This record gives sequence, C-alpha cells and structure tokens, in this order.
Amino acid sequence: MVRAIYPGSFDPVTNGHLDIIERASRAFDHLIVAVLENPRKVSLFKMEERVAMLKIITKKFSNVNVDSYNGLLVDYADKVNASIIVKGLRAVSDFEIEFQMALANRKLNSKVETLFMMTNNIYSFVSSSIVKEVAGYGGNIRDMVPKEVHQIIVDKINSVKNA
Ligand code: PNS
Repeated sequence: MVRAIYPGSFDPVTNGHLDIIERASRAFDHLIVAVLENPRKVSLFKMEERVAMLKIITKKFSNVNVDSYNGLLVDYADKVNASIIVKGLRAVSDFEIEFQMALANRKLNSKVETLFMMTNNIYSFVSSSIVKEVAGYGGNIRDMVPKEVHQIIVDKINSVKNA
C-alpha cells in the first residue's frame, strides 16, 4: 500500500494542481493533498478556505483526502505514514527550488522519496500567482481553476480588492 502526499500552499488551487491530483490518485494507492504554509509566501486565502476548496474538487476521488499541517513536510509524512512526496513541475524555473527542497527533505528524512510529475502542457503557464494577478484585474480565469470553485475564488479576490 503506497501512501503519497501532494503538498503545496494551494493559494488557490488551480487546474494544474487538479491535473496532478488526478494522475497521482491513479499512480498511488492513497493520496493525501496536504496544505502547508510556504514561509516564502504571504497567502491570500485562509488555510480553512484552501482546504475547503480542495475538499470540494477531490470529492470524486475515493482514494484522496485533504489535510493541513504546520511544520516540516517530512515530519508530516512520518505522522501520516506516507513514503512518497509528489511534486508537479511546470518549467525549468520550478526545477531549481524543487531540486533544493527535495534534497533538503531527503537530508531530513531519507526514507521519504520525492517524485516529480511533469505538468500537462496545457496548464504549464497556470500558477496560483497568475490566477490571483489575472482575477485581480478582472480577467477571465475560467480555464485556469476547477469549475466547482471558480466563483469562490473570484468572489474572494473581488472582496479583497474592494475592501
Ligand atoms: O505550493 P508551494 O508554495 O510551492 O508549496 C511549497 C511547500 C508548502 C510544499 C513547501 O514550502 C513546504 O514543504 N513547506 C513546509 C515546510 C518544510 O518542510 N520546509 C522544508 C522544505 S526544504
């Protein structure tokens, strides 16, 4: 039974994330989508909001659950008995930081393996930051985020803009 974690800040979830969730749910027996704070980023959506959106879009996958954690990813992996960390790679620009994190995580816990999945090319330009930027200027993000949470994302970005 291979248990994998797909970690991220998911601020907010995008179609690129959903694509990785879908493919990783087929590759592993169980997948935990784990929302962790990224110390390098200030988040727009609260942790509960990010978890709630992920729960909505993963309802259809019977072997996927959503959780949140504050602390080191490898400690979380130990806690939930997961041996694999799944990461999505969009472009060479992702590689440098992901390479560094994978090596740091291996140094911290060599029993947990990081595996990378190449993004679907149609989502290679999509990121949470691009979604926030485009929606913040009133642009159309319909093809960038899962349809079930599109309105939640637009409403939140508008409410922050109008605050
Ligand atoms: O979606 P993101 O922002 O690229 O995800 C990055 C994340 C949250 C997976 C990463 O920052 C992380 O693992 N944070 C938890 C703290 C940790 O374990 N840091 C050590 C990795 S070097």
